[in-house]
Amino acid sequence: MRPLVLGIETSCDETGVGIVRGDELLANVVASSMDLHARFGGVVPEIAARAHLEAMEPTIERALAEAGVTLGDLDAIAVTAGPGLAGALMVGVGAAKALGVATGLPVHGVNHLVGHVAADALAGGPIDEETIALLVSGGHTSLLHVRDVDADVVTLGETIDDAAGEAFDKVARLLGLGYPGGPSIDAAAVDGDPRAIAFPRGLTAPKDRERHRFDFSFSGLKTAVARHVERTGDAGELRVADVAASFREAVVDVLVTKALDACAHTGVPRLLLGGGVVANARLREVAAERCEAAGVALRVPPLALCTDNGAMIAGLGARLVSRGVAPSAPGFGVESTLDAGIVQVG
Ligand code: KG4
Ligand code: ZN
Repeated sequence: MRPLVLGIETSCDETGVGIVRGDELLANVVASSMDLHARFGGVVPEIAARAHLEAMEPTIERALAEAGVTLGDLDAIAVTAGPGLAGALMVGVGAAKALGVATGLPVHGVNHLVGHVAADALAGGPIDEETIALLVSGGHTSLLHVRDVDADVVTLGETIDDAAGEAFDKVARLLGLGYPGGPSIDAAAVDGDPRAIAFPRGLTAPKDRERHRFDFSFSGLKTAVARHVERTGDAGELRVADVAASFREAVVDVLVTKALDACAHTGVPRLLLGGGVVANARLREVAAERCEAAGVALRVPPLALCTDNGAMIAGLGARLVSRGVAPSAPGFGVESTLDAGIVQVG
């Protein structure tokens, strides 16, 4: 059975609606409110929620038109129930429930993080083997052991403070670069020396590894950059390109080192990347090099499926429907801190 599923994603600042038939991608429409947050240097939850409300109906219409289907053709609706910004999630869940009531279709409230993993099946073929997944975006930084995408996902570690993308955004602000920080730091780093400044690698010291082997921390790095900028700025010696390149190197080094440590620890020689930070040129390069050296197969979905989107939610929903998983209970709610171990709520 290849169910036709519409997926709705509103966990952060992207209103995403995707339509799949099994693991075939039919439509992937995203309306982003990123520009509205730019002057604040980060996502403002209330603004994001309001923007979802405005974008929801036209985005659904566009996705249906792109896929060439009507609501009546669908087999099910999937929606992100968490993790994410509560107010933003509520808009998506409300829309999905309304559609469910209007059409009589079953509604599956699913996990956003697991959706990132499922996204790869829409482009890279089935994910039927165990894999380690590194998910890095403005909202999350998680290392998952995916034994079975539909049913058995274990969180190995996550950030204990800022998300990786958030660190890019905050450091970009310190350096006077634009939002979102990832692309502007990537651009500024082109002529920089990644070895110019030895910035700290969070939670990699032996004493931290005991408790936080697979967790991440970027706040110490951010503070180190702030101190460096202050000191060199006063002396008129700030070299933005070197700071950007050295900062980026520190983030990428920690992400790839911990991901490969997870592969070694679990004995799973496969790594899958997801999330907006995967757009980072250096992350892709270092991950490819080090995975090859370690004999780990690397899967990186196309960028449109890495950043937040509705197709990944539809894809996960279709997997659940194919497996015969019952829909969520009608009263299911949003869970802003939902753990990746819970693939579907209620
Ligand atoms: O997955 P995504 O679109 O969703 C949210 O978390 O909203 O990720 C956005 C994040 C932002 O923090 C942005 O700075 C980061 O991804 N990002 C990057 C790059 N492009 C976007 N980080 C590093 N390098 C990039 N080239
Ligand atoms: Zn995400």
